[in-house]
Amino acid sequence: MQTFNVILMLFAAVSAQQPNYEGYQVLSAIPENDSHLKLLKDLNVKDGLDFLKISTRFETPAEFLVPRDQIENVFERLSINGLKYNIISSNVAEDLKKSFQLRNDEPRVFGLDKYNTFEDILSGLDDLLLKCPSSASCVLEDIGLTPENKPIRLFKIVKPSQRKIVWFDSAIHAREWLAPATNLKLLDAILSQEDPNAVSLLNKYDFYFLIIMNPDGYSFSWESPDNRLWRKNRTPNPGSVCRGTDLNRNFDVNWMNDGTSTEPCSDVFGGSSAASETETQNVQNYLRSIGSRVIALTSIHSTAQMILLPYGHTDSNEECAIPADHEKQLAAGNAFADAIENTYDTIWERGTGCSTICK
Ligand SMILES: *[C@@H]1O[C@H](CO)[C@@H](O)[C@H](O)[C@H]1NC(C)=O
Repeated sequence: MQTFNVILMLFAAVSAQQPNYEGYQVLSAIPENDSHLKLLKDLNVKDGLDFLKISTRFETPAEFLVPRDQIENVFERLSINGLKYNIISSNVAEDLKKSFQLRNDEPRVFGLDKYNTFEDILSGLDDLLLKCPSSASCVLEDIGLTPENKPIRLFKIVKPSQRKIVWFDSAIHAREWLAPATNLKLLDAILSQEDPNAVSLLNKYDFYFLIIMNPDGYSFSWESPDNRLWRKNRTPNPGSVCRGTDLNRNFDVNWMNDGTSTEPCSDVFGGSSAASETETQNVQNYLRSIGSRVIALTSIHSTAQMILLPYGHTDSNEECAIPADHEKQLAAGNAFADAIENTYDTIWERGTGCSTICK
């Protein structure tokens, strides 16, 4: 009996930490009216479905995972609301296994046109040092180590004169592999100096690239198909079988205000206290040390087409908090979004995190 209990408990612990995606489906649905948007929001917030792509506007597709035991219920609610959907994966476990198999068959070398393991990214950064333009210096700097002793490594392109800094980080969310892939392309574009815009930017600013902000989580998401959709870091949470904190809900500023969970098993768990996590502390302390020189900071994600500006929380009147320089930030965000839209013919939302996602 005792053994049986222990086995059951172990099983519960393992399954709570790592969902097994057997029989899960991924649906894509394009909202066309307000009741569709409300249903999508309910599925995300109330039902806790895992959204790979969020949609907060008409004609923009949402993609979400549906566990096997909720499929009938979800199908029914979608059809009651007249929300049309496509099944883009009818068995997530199978599809993940296949994509891991394909990657395992490929040679493990760093490449700018593919996804790369954490180790390959580190060696790729070493290679990129060799591409440093002669007018600047390129430097690697570790701003700290993770709990699993992996470096949180910056690639800096600098000149001696302590210029203003443009910062790009990525992979705070482990599973968003497209974000570091994109960030590496940006880094390469600045280093290559083939585009006149890149040349003029480097003549003016220092650039700091943090390609992998969450090395433990990112590495974990590469380990097996079951880990592929891991989002948080990997720190154990005392008193819970679930690991990990959502690092971008763990910073000091307005910690635990809106859209953040106190439940360690949640994908949006904000941590046991403000900046409780080693990764958060390292990045936060480093940014404070260079703070007055940072002229632009962009965190790249890959879950929606949005330019999200500060802030994400509501103020004491339950209104979205707006910083004093909002208009300036919005103008920059609009320029950014317009340029992408004009190049790729896509639609990008713009606004504070609060007004864009939460309202
Ligand atoms: C939303 O659109 C669907 C599909 O066209 C329709 O069945 C439904 O009645 C609409 N809901 C509202 C509230 O307009």
